[in-house]
Order: sequence, then C-alpha cells, then structure tokens
Amino acid sequence: MYRNRPPTIHLKDYRPPEFLIDRVELRFELAAETTRVEASLEMRRNPAAVRGDGDLRLDGEQLELEQVALDGRPLPPAEYRIEPEALILHHVPDRFRLETRVRIHPQRNTALEGLYQSGALLCTQCEAEGFRRITYFLDRPDVMARYTTTLVADKGRYPVLLANGNPAGTEDLGGGRHLARWEDPFPKPCYLFALVAGDLHEVADRFTTASGREVALRLYVEPENHDKCDHAMRSLKQAMRWDEERYGREYDLEVYLIVAVSHFNMGAMENKGLNVFNAKYVLARPDTATDQDFLGIEAVIAHEYFHNWTGNRITCRDWFQLSLKEGFTVFRDQEFSADMGARDVKRIADVRTLRARQFPEDAGPLAHPVRPDAYIEINNFYTATVYEKGAELVRMQARLLGPEAFRRATDLYFARHDGQAVTIEDFVRCMEEASGRDLTQFMRWYAQAGTPELTVTDTWDAAGGVYTLTFRQRTVPRANRASLGPLHIPVAVGLLDADGRDLPLRTADDTAEPPSGTRLLELRRDETSYRFVGLRARPVPSLLRGFSAPVKVRYDYSDDDLLFLMAHDSDGFNRWDAAQTLAQRLLLRRVAEPEAQVPAGFIAAFRRALTDADADPALRAEVLTLPSEAHLGEQMAVVDVDGIHRAREGLRHAILAALRSELRAVYEAHRDPGPYASTPAAIGRRALKNLALGYLMQDGDQEAVDLCAAQFDAGANMTDVIAALGLLVDVGGAPAERALDTFYRRWAADPLVLDKWFAVQAASKRPDTLARVEALLGHEAFTLRNPNRLRSLVGVFCSLNPVRFHAADGAGYRFLGDRVLELDPLNPQIASRMLQALARWRRYDPARQALMRAQLERIVAVEELSKDVYEVASKTLGERPA
Ligand code: TRP
Ligand code: ZN
Repeated sequence: MYRNRPPTIHLKDYRPPEFLIDRVELRFELAAETTRVEASLEMRRNPAAVRGDGDLRLDGEQLELEQVALDGRPLPPAEYRIEPEALILHHVPDRFRLETRVRIHPQRNTALEGLYQSGALLCTQCEAEGFRRITYFLDRPDVMARYTTTLVADKGRYPVLLANGNPAGTEDLGGGRHLARWEDPFPKPCYLFALVAGDLHEVADRFTTASGREVALRLYVEPENHDKCDHAMRSLKQAMRWDEERYGREYDLEVYLIVAVSHFNMGAMENKGLNVFNAKYVLARPDTATDQDFLGIEAVIAHEYFHNWTGNRITCRDWFQLSLKEGFTVFRDQEFSADMGARDVKRIADVRTLRARQFPEDAGPLAHPVRPDAYIEINNFYTATVYEKGAELVRMQARLLGPEAFRRATDLYFARHDGQAVTIEDFVRCMEEASGRDLTQFMRWYAQAGTPELTVTDTWDAAGGVYTLTFRQRTVPRANRASLGPLHIPVAVGLLDADGRDLPLRTADDTAEPPSGTRLLELRRDETSYRFVGLRARPVPSLLRGFSAPVKVRYDYSDDDLLFLMAHDSDGFNRWDAAQTLAQRLLLRRVAEPEAQVPAGFIAAFRRALTDADADPALRAEVLTLPSEAHLGEQMAVVDVDGIHRAREGLRHAILAALRSELRAVYEAHRDPGPYASTPAAIGRRALKNLALGYLMQDGDQEAVDLCAAQFDAGANMTDVIAALGLLVDVGGAPAERALDTFYRRWAADPLVLDKWFAVQAASKRPDTLARVEALLGHEAFTLRNPNRLRSLVGVFCSLNPVRFHAADGAGYRFLGDRVLELDPLNPQIASRMLQALARWRRYDPARQALMRAQLERIVAVEELSKDVYEVASKTLGERPA
C-alpha cells in the first residue's frame, strides 16, 4: 500500500543482474496459518554485469525473517538491513551460499499472490512478482536457477504434495507428517515456481512423445469434481501432439501436472511441470459447462502447455518483454483451436475479442505499446494489447514469411535461445535470419501504441481495364508519444467480379502468373497505390481478408457492395465482417433517427443468412449476431448509451417481426438430435438454435416464453439451459423467478455453475438490474474473496451491461467505486481490473463524465492505495505519473 506516488519502472533502465543464482534449495513446512520457508541459494557475481556498490539486494515482501546465514555463518543484524520490500546484505563475496528462514501466512493472503489458501488447499501464484512473498530472492526473470523443493506437511490435511519438475522421493516422518521432494532439472526464473498441497483427487493418463518417451499426465481436482476432467485431459493430449507436429516441440519432464483451484486471479499459470489453473478452465461436464466453457478449456490448457517452450524453456529478459511469451503463445493457442475446431468461426471470435477489448484499450488512457516502455505495476500490463495484439503481430510475421520460412524461424528461435531469457528483438531476428527478410520497419508495431487506420480509395479506368486501389495509413500516436512513422502492414486483398467470383490480381510488373483469389499486399509507406490490370469490369474489393492486420479499414462501400460481399466473398471472415459493417451502419443511423426504416435489402440478407441450409450453422449464427452496444459506442464521438440500446433492441424487434416463422423453423430444425457432443458441428447447431430463440424472445410473448421455459426445463445441457435462463431473466416476471429458483436449488453446491446464476442476473437488460445486483452482494453465496464470483456479479454488471452500468444517475459508477475501494485492500489485481470499466469515461456526455470522474477522483484521493489501482486511476484521469 502506497501513501506516496509509487515509482515508475522504465525499459531504458534495464541492467543485467549484479548477482546470479545457480541452485536453489527450498524447504517448506506447510501450514495454513504459518508456513516456514527455508531457502538455500548458491549465488555468484554476474561476470557480465557492471560492479555496483557491493551490496546484495534481495526482493522480499511481507516476510518475517527468522534467520539469515552466509556460507553457514548466521549473520548478526549489523550485517544486513531489512526494508519493507528488500533484504540488503553488505559486502558479500564473489561466490557464496545464502540461507534464509522466513515465516509467511497463507491463510491471511487475500491477494492470491505468493503462497495462499484456496478452500482447503495451499497453492502458489508467482507471476509476475509473487515469489518475493515466499522468500527473499532476486525476483526477476533473467535470473534462472535449478530448484529442489522439499515439502513437509500434515499427512491428513495435505496428502498430496506437488512442486515443479520430477518427483524425487517421499518420506513418512511419523507423527502424522510426511515429506515430498521434487527436482526440476531445467533452469527457470522464480516466477515459474509452484507448489500445491491438499487433499486432491488424481486423474491419471499418459502420453508417449514423438521420440518415444513416456510422460505421466496428472490432473488434480477437489474430490467432488472427479467426473469433470475428461475434456481437459483430452485437450492436453491433443495440444501435446499438435506442438510436436506443428512446431517440433516435445515435452521434457517425466510428469505433467495440472491442478484446478477455486480462487485464482486469472485463467491459469504455466509453472514448469505444474500448471495451476482457475477451475473454470479445467472442469467441464455437459450439464455444468457451456460450449464456450468447453472451448475455453481447450484453449487455456493448450496455452499453458505451449508455454513450456514459449515462456519456460525460453523466457523473458524483463517484464517489458512480456509479449515475447504471451503474444506468441496466444498465437499458438489460437492456431491450435482453429485446427481442432472451425477455423473461420475461431478467427471471427478472436477478432471480436480484439475489437471489443484491445481497440478501446489502444484508444484510451491506458493505451500502451505491445512492448510497454514504462509501468508502475506490472500486473496492470497483462492486457489485451500484450496478449491479443501481440498475437496479431506474430500472426503477421507468420504470414509475411509463409509457413516454411516461419517454421524455420521458430526452429532457429528454439535452438538458439533454449535456456535463455531473451527479448523481442531476439525473436524477430530469428524471423529475419530464417527468411532473409528485413523486419526493421515491422519492429515499429511493437513500439507504437494506437490502432492504425487504413483509408482505402479506388478508381476504375474502364477504357484501360485498370482498377487502382490506394491505401493511406495513419496511426494516432497514444500515450504522449510521437509517431514512429508508417508501419509495415500486410493487407490481404481479393477482387470479386459481378458474379462474386475471385479475379486474378495482376499488376503491370508481375512476371509470374498472379494468384487468383487473395493477394498479400505489403504497405510500407504513408500512401501506396496498386494498379490491377486486365479487368473487364469494375470489381468489388474484399479488403483485409482474414483480418490480416490489426487495423481499422475505412472504405466507402455502398450498402449493395456489403450485401454482395456478405453473399459471395470467398473469405468467410469477410462475409461476416460485411454483415457486421452493414448492421453497424444501420444501427448507427437508427441511433440518430430512431424512426429510420430498416431497408428491405437488410431483412432479405438476414433471411438468406438465417435460412441458408448449405451454410455452416456456426457461421450463420455469427452473421446474425448484431454488433454489441459497447462496439457501437466505440464508433460514436459521444456514446449515446440509451440511444444505442433503443436502436439495437428496435432492430432486433424488426428482425423478429419480419422473420418470425423462419426463426421458429430454424429453432425447430436445430434442436439437439442426441446426446451432447462438444464437436464444432454440434456447437454450431446449438449456437444457431439459441440465437433464433433469442430473437423469438425479443418481445417476450407467451408462446416464446413457453418455448424457452421448455428448453430450460428439458435441461439437456448447460449451453441450452443457461441460454434459456438468460432470456427468461430478460423478460422477467414469474417464469424468470421460478427458473432462477430452480437453477439455484439444483446447483447451489457447484460454485462454477453458481457463478453463471450470478452472471445472468448481472447481465440482464431489465431496468432494475442494479438494485438486483446490489441485493445479490448480500446473498449468502456471494463473496468478494473469490475472483470468479466477483467477476460474475460485479465484473459482468460493470463491463458487459453498458445500458445499466452507465445509468444517467451515476448509480452504477458509485457502485463500482464502492467495490473498488472495498476490494483494493484485499486483492489489488482484481480491484484494478474492475476499475478499468471507467477507462473510456471521456467518451460520454458531460453529465456522465462528471459522475465517472468523481469516482476516479474519490479513488485516487485515498491515501493507502495499491500500486495497481493507483496506476489505473491516475492514468485514467490523465494525470501523467512521472
Ligand atoms: N502467464 C499466465 C498466462 O498467460 C498469466 C498470468 C500472469 C497469471 N499473472 C498471473 C495467472 C497471475 C494467474 C495469476 O498463462
Ligand atoms: Zn500466457
């Protein structure tokens, strides 16, 4: 907690560590109230570092030091100094063994960083800087050491004792205590350290690597969840095989362990050989988890597994390089999911996320480059920019290189940097060397915040048969920075003839036959023109196919062009994007003029998309989903909260009025034929069916409510049940209350399912939602101490329910301010994330701005604020911290 302004850390100040740690021996005497940690560190001066004052400064927070010894000699207090965040030893030799003994208190740890208690388990979370809450250490990723971990605990309470690496023996110590030893042969930074202790159910499987080594796979869950592990285990084996096939990467330890815990700040953590997961990303059964949950598990299991190479074997030199591991690993998990499921649907989902979360971040007060150059609290930089935009940067490089060169480049990266802590330059240099391409200009993507805008104009020379496309790029620099100059942007383009077929994209200086279909243009200047020759008629351009770069494209399509692309583009992503653009246009028009007609062409296109039995149901559902209220708000200079809501509800109403019988037929035709399957086809059918049900419920008429209630009562699977429950809650009244009650009684003992019960109420578009959410704060099942529960209620209301959160009286803002201040002393990471719901405050009308600003000011005025919340609140207000 900081009274004063906390310091800013700058990338330019990076210095190699003055000391290195080669070996670490840790011994834990575990207990929930007080745990004793003994650390023995083999240390030496770093020959590659500039010699400092000779002092050794170890990071440590909230540690109670019992003893410190140097080369076996206990040190008297005169030979060291304890600060709130450090232990400083004066004049150490060039090579020595440092031993410390500290006490820590897992049960009192509500921040869920370091060693903490979750239910009856003890577990750790060390990334980014949690290890310093376990023992005194050089807590930075460029200090890599080999670890041996010994765990001692009560055998009844903690029968399972896990740590990183390979098991190295157990002992019964008598008196109800036991011990387990673990050895990790791979040097690692301390943020990858983990231990878990508890009474866990074990699910065992095995995997034979491509080179024939046997790996024991183990999933550990709380005993009541023993029957929810199949999907996670299957996903793990698929990820292991995929990484061998696609990247030539094998697993490297005898065991791979995954533990599911109920209290977790984020999704999951890639600790070496011992991943710790938010239970939400492990546990699934058709009756408890939705299709989206199944897909989320597959992606996160893969993500953490892929980190074994991209993050663990090769790690980050410093936290500014975070996207080195996160961007690359997200790209890897996205491609894995695309291969396992439906590629176009996956790409649409990923771009939706990017546009919904990263674009606003990049345009607001918390904008930062994919490689930030300054931070106050690194936990605030696990962002959509570092993760999702970072993944797009790797995707662009993969596309620029092509599959063969990209594989050579990643092979080179793994071979050259194995065992090292490296930078983004090191990664990009491998891309360059393996391909012979110059990516100097491309590097600007990592340093420039803000979403580039690409304005496209065209001309048609009928006599010459020449079609010219001109691209002008512009990036509004963010975060007080000057522009770095034009970016290197790969733009995939197609040209369609009048029948909707792809034309060859031939330029005058092509020597070889040009591709028919998609051509990758590489923009490098502020303005670039391409002349396509040999055309008979003016084509319709299909721009940025597959979303080949994270930019906003401005091209003056007519509504007819968009309808045409929606129907004919060979690129599935752009068919969807054309529909989105069309709907967005219509919606924004209706915000300005609520009585504006819905054009017949729009309804006809929707009818076609809805009833086109040849098209993939999943893609049909995507096309028929209107842009979100938040997305529409981002397109307006001043967000018209109520106008957007009215326009969107009105259009949904018009769609229902025009297509009621078609919607009903689609609903009937896509009812589940048999037992639940999480295959792409079955998921797509359910998505389309529930989309149709959503439109049918738009007016809340009795027939629809009965249909919806019947789906809820049938209880076929959680996807269908929760879809029906959400729709019933939006309509309200007795059917909603009855369903909520039934659901609660059925699932009161399953926390992850109960989270959904909170979330559907927080997401409701009913006008009294805030009152309901406030009442739910007092519900016996609500607690601020479980991040999943908190996100389900407070997070969903503040971030996913714009019309109710942004109520004109400011009650939503006050509610958020109260929650942030209540939560900050308990869990600053989560408090800071919740506060980001106010990031776009300057985009609203003056009255709302004032109300939001008042909450931000109220927060920064608090004396003892975490670094996390201080950084977000002050930057959001626009105060520039030094
Ligand atoms: N490295 C983790 C991942 O992306 C994320 C992570 C960072 C995290 N800090 C955390 C997870 C704190 C939980 C808690 O996979
Ligand atoms: Zn990650």
